Amino acid sequence: MLRKIGIALAAGALASTGALAQDTAKIGVVLPLTGGLAPVGKQVEAGIRLYMNKHGSTVAGKKIELIVKDDAGVPDNSKRLAQELIVNDKVAIVGSGITPSAMAIGPLSTQAKTANVVMVSGTSRVINPDNPYMVRTSFTLGQQSGIIAEWAAKNGSKKVAIVQSDWAPGAEATSVFTEAFTKAGGQVVETIKVPLANPDFAPFLQRARDANPDTLFVFVPASQAGTFAKQFAERGLDKAGIKLIGPGDIVDDNDLPGMGDGMLGVVTAGIYSAAHNSPTNKEYVAAFKKANGGLRPNFISLGGYDGMHLIYEALKKTGGKTDADSLIGAMKGMAWESPRGPISIDPDTREIVQNIYIGKVEKVDGELYNVEFAKFDAVKDPLKMKK
Ligand code: PHB
Repeated sequence: MLRKIGIALAAGALASTGALAQDTAKIGVVLPLTGGLAPVGKQVEAGIRLYMNKHGSTVAGKKIELIVKDDAGVPDNSKRLAQELIVNDKVAIVGSGITPSAMAIGPLSTQAKTANVVMVSGTSRVINPDNPYMVRTSFTLGQQSGIIAEWAAKNGSKKVAIVQSDWAPGAEATSVFTEAFTKAGGQVVETIKVPLANPDFAPFLQRARDANPDTLFVFVPASQAGTFAKQFAERGLDKAGIKLIGPGDIVDDNDLPGMGDGMLGVVTAGIYSAAHNSPTNKEYVAAFKKANGGLRPNFISLGGYDGMHLIYEALKKTGGKTDADSLIGAMKGMAWESPRGPISIDPDTREIVQNIYIGKVEKVDGELYNVEFAKFDAVKDPLKMKK
């Protein structure tokens, strides 16, 4: 009799863990939480957690379990961690970024048929036909760089020097900017590449100055704008009459409050400003600051926040089904209002489509902000449209 009860209990326990496993959808996110780009990973994670706190952790009858792993921005780590998440933890969805890590994880998520939401990467080719289960919620540098090139040409820039962080998103920023600016009649007099790790901008800025441009186009990734601005001012470039322009990365809201008045008047084409004027954004900024010790959300945080929205809404649409074909099918064409404005997922390319805003750095209530003053609606990734 006792033995029978034991067996029945064991069977019951098995059945209940089986049911539990089925009712849970695990999301495994791999991000740089240490190393040079740690502030990037932290903004993404803060965006993810804010979304979950606001919307709860049960979706379509599934309990959402979030697992966050730190790869220190090293692609070999990203690959190993994603492998563990997929094979051991059996995550239903992978979240990835930055560019080199997303590239390392891509083929794994394809082989395992696991949905992969790229929450931070600005490189067009990360989302491609060979990896059909990847979708992007961040941005591409191309989306921003062509627009600022045309704006600069229309607003008096004729000779531009480019200073570019030397990795994939930087290369795309440079190529899209150069093509658009040249087409508009301008000239790129010098393209200078700065190492990604521990950059010392001073010698590169000197070289740029020596090329005698009227305008400097700069791409540095989020979290390096502060260092850049400091060295820009130290070299006296803020007073040399050279206009500074770029994609939104150089006015990263995370760094902007400490960047100094030398940045006043800098014009960028970007996806987001903490000063974006909408009720949705005001609520987002207030909640983000409250949850993160007063830290401003930056354009990077949205890849995490909107990435979670995409996952939650896709799960609702599939009725909780987590196979990659169902999830990615549900994500294609999805449109919603983000704190950055209206966004959608292009059903043909799985790329984010979003407004690009031209903004200028100004003082608002004594603090530096990127104040948006012009808008380009529903911009697609220009490098994909070419193909
Ligand atoms: C990227 O991973 O491609 C990336 C990260 C941070 C940026 C821009 C691009 O600011």
